[in-house]
Amino acid sequence: MKTVLLSTAGLAVLVVAAFFAFALSPEEIEAVERPAADSFDAGLVAKGRDLAALGNCLTCHRSEGGAPYAGGYGVETPVGTIYGSNITPDPETGIGRWSEAAFVRSMREGLGREGEHLYPAFPYTHFTRVTDGDLEALYAFLMTREAVAKTVPDPDLPFPMNVRPLLAAWKLLFFDEGAAPLEGVDDELERGRYLVDGLGHCGACHTPRNLFLAERSDAYLRGGEASGWANPPLAGDIHSPSPWSADEITTYLRGGFAETHGTAAGPMAEVAAQLKDAPAKDVLSMATYLVSLQTGVETPSANGQERPAQSERVVLGETLYRGACARCHEASGEGVAFARGSSQGLPLSQSTALHAPDGRNFAQFVLYGVEAPKGEAGWPMPGFADLLTDEQIAAIADYLRHDLAGQPAWDDMTGRIAGIRSQGESGQ
Ligand code: HEC
Ligand code: HEC
Ligand code: HEC
Repeated sequence: MKTVLLSTAGLAVLVVAAFFAFALSPEEIEAVERPAADSFDAGLVAKGRDLAALGNCLTCHRSEGGAPYAGGYGVETPVGTIYGSNITPDPETGIGRWSEAAFVRSMREGLGREGEHLYPAFPYTHFTRVTDGDLEALYAFLMTREAVAKTVPDPDLPFPMNVRPLLAAWKLLFFDEGAAPLEGVDDELERGRYLVDGLGHCGACHTPRNLFLAERSDAYLRGGEASGWANPPLAGDIHSPSPWSADEITTYLRGGFAETHGTAAGPMAEVAAQLKDAPAKDVLSMATYLVSLQTGVETPSANGQERPAQSERVVLGETLYRGACARCHEASGEGVAFARGSSQGLPLSQSTALHAPDGRNFAQFVLYGVEAPKGEAGWPMPGFADLLTDEQIAAIADYLRHDLAGQPAWDDMTGRIAGIRSQGESGQ
């Protein structure tokens, strides 16, 4: 009986959604001749390049080994995979025949040129905040890229998620269009907020989502999850054991590493690889804004916790740590990691991954290692997936939590590691 009721309710929702979808069906914007590349001002194109780096456009609009902006990267969502479009100016397979108005509408309203609804895997829920002036520059930048003919796969989604018109209902409930563009802001915090919430779309990963996969407005930047990683909170009480300064965040965002806070790995490595090419001043504005949102850090003393008891597994973990990890992580003195040029690796006691409420990121680091930040030579940590068992990694985690973080062991770490192992390496 209950299932009948539920499926009737589900059907009713679908019917109502379909009604809205067709009632609100948006119009096609007419195709234009592809504008000549030399019709765009060089200064505007350069501005667009900076904005594209801030918006990470390349990340989702290039497949592995594929041409820039020709699309094909699969954005993984809990319901299926949606492929980044070809946004080169190719007239047939890209956006070559899109007018500026069509481009602006796609970014503001999540609509294709022909009026079809786009999936919010394309972060237009953030891009809707971008100013007219910035969108004009992005359009100039994209229309002056090399045109590449490439058709990207259709989204790989089950019914009813694969029915695009139903997205109209989702937008009605969860999409706040426009969100007041801020023209000509120069105050640094405002600029930072504009970039974090708009082009930077940091909340796409760092804000938790509700059942319908929309970002929760009541938990802005309080931490989310993606591809087997925990995206740590950027606002409120953060998981790092020491506070971030704006300069440290800037270094981390533009270099993929900060001596005081460690490495940007997994999905964050790609974000940092793009921000490397963004203007330092803009990244500093984002960092300044983020610092203004942070209220404190979670340290063992701040939690008032007793030092946890030492278990047998902690003793085993210490032995394993001495054999497998210490030669790097204690190479140059007390708890200090690797040397990289003139800078030092992070003492593990300072790692956000070790202080987080669950051991997901720690497991990612140990199973799959750390790649050198993009453009840097050397400096890797090997993955231990083939060298250590789940139980052994869990024992090392217990030891480090006990000895370096002064915190209780994570629950069911062995199961957590097995789960991440079975998903394979992701987000790199
Ligand atoms: C997190 C991944 C992601 C990022 C970052 C991203 N996009 Fe996309 N974008 C997508 C996906 C996925 C689609 C396809 C959506 C669909 O099929 O409904 C898309 C579609 C588009 C479209 C519509 C193209 C069409 O043919 O319908 C445009 C235009 C676009 N993106 C521009 C941009 C720009 C400009 C940036 C950077 C400021 C950007 N995107 C950043 C994932 C992304
Ligand atoms: C695709 C998902 C994704 C996006 C988009 C993203 N992040 Fe992250 N971020 C992560 C993950 C995962 C980590 C943890 C990485 C690690 O520990 O190496 C992280 C870590 C961080 C940290 C370190 C936090 C700490 O306390 O250790 C900062 C700061 C950060 N991100 C800032 C940003 C900013 C600013 C943006 C927007 C410009 C952004 N992130 C966009 C996934 C993302
Ligand atoms: C060959 C040298 C090497 C070995 C062996 C090694 N590491 Fe690393 N590890 C590194 C480097 C280099 C980094 C990146 C620098 C950083 O983040 O400070 C790193 C980073 C980490 C991080 C992330 C720190 C952060 O938040 O940025 C963790 C966690 C970690 N290692 C744990 C371990 C554990 C546990 C072992 C043993 C199973 C181990 N490592 C073995 C070199 C090594």
